Amino acid sequence: MVDLDNIVSLCKRRGFIFPGSEIYGGLAGTWDWGPLGVALKNNIKNLWWRMFVENREDMFGVDAAILMNAKVWEASGHVSGFSDPLVECGKCKRRFRADEIIKEKAGRDELKKIFIQEALENPEVIKSCECGGKLSEARQFNMMFKTNIGATEDESSASYLRPETAGGIFVNFKNVLDSMHPKVPFGIAQIGKAFRNEIAPRDFIFRAREFEQMEIEYFVKPLEWEAKFEEWRKNVLAYIEACGIKSDLVHELEVPDEDRAHYSKRTIDFEFDFPFGRKELYGLAYRTDFDLSAHEKTSGADLKFLDEETKERFIPHVIEPSFGVDRTVLAILSSAYEEDELGGERRVFLKLKPSTAPIKVAVFPLVRNKPELVAKAREIYKNLQHTAYGLGQIAWDDNGNIGKRYRRQDEIGTPWCVTVDYQTLEDGTVTVRDRDTGGQIRTNGLELGEYFGDKIK
Ligand code: GAP
Repeated sequence: MVDLDNIVSLCKRRGFIFPGSEIYGGLAGTWDWGPLGVALKNNIKNLWWRMFVENREDMFGVDAAILMNAKVWEASGHVSGFSDPLVECGKCKRRFRADEIIKEKAGRDELKKIFIQEALENPEVIKSCECGGKLSEARQFNMMFKTNIGATEDESSASYLRPETAGGIFVNFKNVLDSMHPKVPFGIAQIGKAFRNEIAPRDFIFRAREFEQMEIEYFVKPLEWEAKFEEWRKNVLAYIEACGIKSDLVHELEVPDEDRAHYSKRTIDFEFDFPFGRKELYGLAYRTDFDLSAHEKTSGADLKFLDEETKERFIPHVIEPSFGVDRTVLAILSSAYEEDELGGERRVFLKLKPSTAPIKVAVFPLVRNKPELVAKAREIYKNLQHTAYGLGQIAWDDNGNIGKRYRRQDEIGTPWCVTVDYQTLEDGTVTVRDRDTGGQIRTNGLELGEYFGDKIK
C-alpha cells in the first residue's frame, strides 16, 4: 500500500492539492485545489452526473443554496443531534473526538459491545492524552458552522453552512414534483459543498472541514425499499469500478444499530483500504420517511405524493447513496499510485483511467529549435483541443529531453504522449506513447481526436 506522504507530496508538487491559506500558515481542515486537482475532480463529478442523472429517466438534478433557513436543520435533527463527543486534555489543551480515542484503545468490535456514553464514563476505556494530561469529561460538540444572515447578530438571524447536501434536496422535493411530474420511484441528485466543524480533521483530504458531496435521495414506495436498496448497492459498486478505484480494496460494512445516524434504519458503509487504514468511502442509507415527514411537520407544506393510478397519497420513503468527492479523489490516487522501472530508470506514475485523468494527451515537438517541427506540433495540438471528442485540456511540453517529458506526464497520470518528429514532416504520422507500458505506435497525426476518443469511451 502506498504511503500517504508520497501522495500528499505528489499532489502539492504537481498542482493537484495545496494546503488551504498556506502563505498565512494554513487553516486546519481546508484544502485548495490546483489546476490538475480541479480537472480530476470535474472528471469524477461529470462521470457521476452522467451515470446517475443524464443516463437515467428517473433522476433529476438540483443545485440548492448552501445557506438555508435554520428551520431546515432543526427539522432534520441536525441542530439537536449532529454532534460528536469531544474531550479536552487538561494539560496540552488538545481536543479529541472521544469515539476515536475509544476505538483506538478498545477496537471497533469492543466498542460495539459498549454503548458509547457508557464508554465515555469509563476510565478503563478512555485513558490519558499522549502528553500525560488528564482528559476532561466528554461533552457533545455540534459540528455545524453557525453564522448570521444580514446585519443583526442574534438568534433570529442565525443560520448554518449545510453539513450535508441532502437538506437542499428534501426542501426541493415539492418543487421537483410540481415542475417535472415524476412517478415514484424517482430520485433527486445534487453535487456541492458541505461543511463540518470536525474536531480532529486529519489524513489529508479524508476528513476536512469543507468538502464536496454527490448525493441522491431516491424516493420509493415504503414496501419496495429493500429491492431499491439492493439496486443502489450495486450502482455504488458500479461507480467505484467506473472511477478506477481498486475493487479488492473496497469492503461493505453493515453498520450496527448503535453506530447509525439518527435518521437511518439500515446503512451500509463502503469502506476503502486507505494508506492510513480501512475507513468509510461512501454510505448507503435507508432514511425511511424521516426527512419528508419532519419537513412536512415543521414547514406545514404538503409533501405527499399522489399516486394517479391508486389515488393513494403517501410520503415516499428514501434510499440515500452518499458519495464524498474528496474521498473519491483519495481512493483513486491511492489505487493509481505506482512505482516501477522503465527503460532502466525508476519512475512514479499514476495509473489513472483515461476518463478520470486530468490530462489525457500531451503533445511534444521532438526539439524546440526547429520552427517547422514546432509549427507542425502546434497544428496537431490545436486540432486535438478543438476535436469533437472532448479530450479536455491538452498539455504542451517542449522542455528538456523526451524521456524527462514522459516522466513528467507519467507522474500526473497522462495516458498518452504524442511526439512530432522529422518523419511527421514527411508523411504526417506521429508517435503515440502509452503511459503504462512505455510502448509506442505510429499513426496519422490529424486523426488523433477519433483515435483517443474511441479509447476513452
Ligand atoms: N447525507 C448523508 C451523509 O452526509 P455521511 O456519512 O455523514 O452521510 C457522506 O457523509 C459522505 O461524505 C461520506 O461517506 C464521505 O465520503 C463524505 N464525508 C463526510 N464527512 C467528510 C469530511 N469531514 N471530509 C471529507 N469527506 C467527508
